Amino acid sequence: MIDLQSPPEPEQTPTLQAEGFEPEVQDREDQAFSSVSTDLASTDLPTEAPPEEESEEEFVTEYPEEPDDRRVEEPKDADEPTDGQAPTTGSEDSPAEGFVRTTPALPRVIALANQKGGVGKTTTTVNLGAALADLGYRVLLIDLDPQGNATTGLGINHHDLDVTIYNVLLQDVNLDECVEPTEVKGLFIAPASLDLAGSEIELVTAFSRESKLKRALDEVIDDYDYVLIDCPPSLGLLTVNALVAATEVMVPIQCEYYALEGLGQLTRNVDLIRRNLNASLEILNIVLVMYDGRTKLGEQVSDEVRGHYGSRVCRVVIPRNVRLSEAPGFGQPITTFDPSSRGAVAYKELAREVSGVS
Ligand SMILES: Nc1ncnc2c1ncn2[C@@H]1O[C@H](COP(=O)(O)OP(=O)(O)OP(=O)(O)O)[C@@H](O)[C@H]1O
Ligand SMILES: [Mg+2]
Repeated sequence: MIDLQSPPEPEQTPTLQAEGFEPEVQDREDQAFSSVSTDLASTDLPTEAPPEEESEEEFVTEYPEEPDDRRVEEPKDADEPTDGQAPTTGSEDSPAEGFVRTTPALPRVIALANQKGGVGKTTTTVNLGAALADLGYRVLLIDLDPQGNATTGLGINHHDLDVTIYNVLLQDVNLDECVEPTEVKGLFIAPASLDLAGSEIELVTAFSRESKLKRALDEVIDDYDYVLIDCPPSLGLLTVNALVAATEVMVPIQCEYYALEGLGQLTRNVDLIRRNLNASLEILNIVLVMYDGRTKLGEQVSDEVRGHYGSRVCRVVIPRNVRLSEAPGFGQPITTFDPSSRGAVAYKELAREVSGVS
């Protein structure tokens, strides 16, 4: 577990370091999470030392001045091809808290979580999922956000759907009954609709409310290599369901001011779930997104995050790229919408890094 009790180094960029690393900070998400925290009341918050800091400069993406020429760095020491079956990074990378940096066996269930809104969770879920499918994996996206952005972003109109993830969570409908194919071969989605918004309340009184998604997923997991869960921007019961069902958490961090705000709360909650509800939640990775190489800020945020989270930060950085923001409007992932764009190249590289394919 990441220790956020220790204050950061004297800062050059005070704003970036502000609340994410302050244990005393209690933001709104504390309250959103309070029902779960109450259940887990006996759990001690972690007090271990932070992971050893590493120099990650070699991983910083180099972007030329012209925005259109910016590109994603090739992974320096590409992992051996493993088909996701074997660890590829050395034990020297293993942090102290129980989260490990390996390429785990398939199937993998990755929750894309960050209670901050608009940080790139959905964009990463959809495009990483599409890029993994392009590598030949069978991929299921689970849209666990009532906004349904992953659903519409893949060209599915939720008004046309009889069964969605809401029915799975609240009415014990089998997950495979709501799964829809997409235009991308090997990419499937369990869609969301607006009625999912009420589920945070409805789930409160449900039996085994934190494990609804996990039990539904257990029925179909053997059909997939990767399951990516797009979480809503909160730490309520929907996100808790995602974290209980997941074996990994991926946290997109926007390379902007306040990027780290709330990150401490998120990592503490992830640890609570790991200790109390889901011992299989072994991996926490961070992916830097919306990187703008023209500004010093992007580099500062990147250095800051890598300084604190070391090898848990993906080597590949996703650049800010307007094509990524346009693609959902056309109901397509970036890999089909504009396969040669910097955004598409970056997500393809991220898929290779995540899957351990060189
Ligand atoms: N790398 C990028 N370059 C440019 N625009 C991006 C990039 N990543 C995401 N965006 C845009 O930023 C906005 C927020 O992204 P996204 O919807 O993925 O965030 P989110 O974390 O899922 O938001 P929410 O918390 O509301 O679910 C969207 O308009 C998206 O198109
Ligand atoms: Mg979203």
